[in-house]
Amino acid sequence: MAVIPGDGIGQEVIPQAVRVIQASGANVELTGFDWGADRYLRDGVTVPADGFAMLGRDYDAILVGAFGDPRVKTNIHAKEILLGMRFKMDLYANVRPIRLLDAALCPLKGIEPKDVDFVVLRENTEGVYTDAGGVFKQGTADEIAIQEDINTRKGVERIIRYAFEYCEKHRKADGSPRNKLLMCDKSNAMTHAGGLWQRVFKEVSGEYLKITAQHMYVDALCMQMVRDPRQFDVIVTNNMFGDIITDLAAGLQGGLGMAASGNIHPGRTSMFEPVHGSAPPIAGKNIANPFGAILTAAMMLAHLGMTAEAAKIEAAVLEAVRQKKTTQDIGGKLGTKEAGEWIEERVSKSGAN
Ligand code: NAD
Ligand code: IPM
Ligand code: MN
Repeated sequence: MAVIPGDGIGQEVIPQAVRVIQASGANVELTGFDWGADRYLRDGVTVPADGFAMLGRDYDAILVGAFGDPRVKTNIHAKEILLGMRFKMDLYANVRPIRLLDAALCPLKGIEPKDVDFVVLRENTEGVYTDAGGVFKQGTADEIAIQEDINTRKGVERIIRYAFEYCEKHRKADGSPRNKLLMCDKSNAMTHAGGLWQRVFKEVSGEYLKITAQHMYVDALCMQMVRDPRQFDVIVTNNMFGDIITDLAAGLQGGLGMAASGNIHPGRTSMFEPVHGSAPPIAGKNIANPFGAILTAAMMLAHLGMTAEAAKIEAAVLEAVRQKKTTQDIGGKLGTKEAGEWIEERVSKSGAN
């Protein structure tokens, strides 16, 4: 398994995830890589030659922290490393589970853990993220900036199919089936791309009659998410809407420090990272919440078939949240390292699988 902590709090939370993986007894070999801002500033390299081919060939999975450093104004290294992995390794499904572990963590009134248990499946290789477009007459009064929104039949269809399959294969924490798939777009204004998403969703839904196919415009969805998150089960959407609604959804879970994600291409080396970024203002202070990274590690182990190890880690995080053995962003008093050590100890004591 490859481990790339990256920048800022990535360098603090990933070591906690690593200690927890080791405590879980998972049979994995971990190899660290220094890709990130420091290395880029030192030798100008973002991704070493053949880096993605090497990851795909030599590793089962990749655990990533975050990229983003105020010293790299262009953010070029984040683009080349993070978006590079997503695009060049064709990790087309960004899976972002949204689960509330304790009522105290949710900013909404009267919401219990069972009320927030949904998954956002974000298209991860197209949309406005391809950087197609350009700037014309830069610096003049006539300047034009074009950012294209690329939506291919293949790209839209495979994430929608992935979403229906995901519903069939997964259950909620309470054991009930995931039988509602909601496609979220902005087809009332972005008619070309939205039209393609609408047509493909309708067509593919005809093959999955046990799953209720629903639709919401992204603006209405944002309002519904804070008004009543109980209604959501699985949401499929494009790259940018998926980015935005998963930060909003992270708010329901207790903030960005709690949110996990996987960047998946079934059958290929996939990449797992917390949803949060490098959080420069809190970096280096031992205050970042490591649970998003730790839950990401559990997701990665489950993806590789180590479901017992993953379950032990998830149970330990749940217990830490209940006992307030957490960092301050979710109400505890522990530092990043101390919260990681608490999980490590709990996981190592949780015994045989
Ligand atoms: P951010 O996620 O880094 O931080 C947003 C807010 O959430 C901040 O207030 C931060 O303090 C808080 N936060 C985030 N993670 C936390 C944690 N683990 N514990 C406690 N609080 C936490 O987003 P941003 O500030 O918009 O971006 C900072 C940098 O990170 C930028 O360079 C951005 O491009 C980059 N970024 C990278 C990734 C990634 O690599 N996957 C994701 C998002 C942002
Ligand atoms: C995320 C991040 C990235 C994204 C940035 C850093 C490019 O916000 O993983 O959610 O927009 O996908
Ligand atoms: Mn984001």
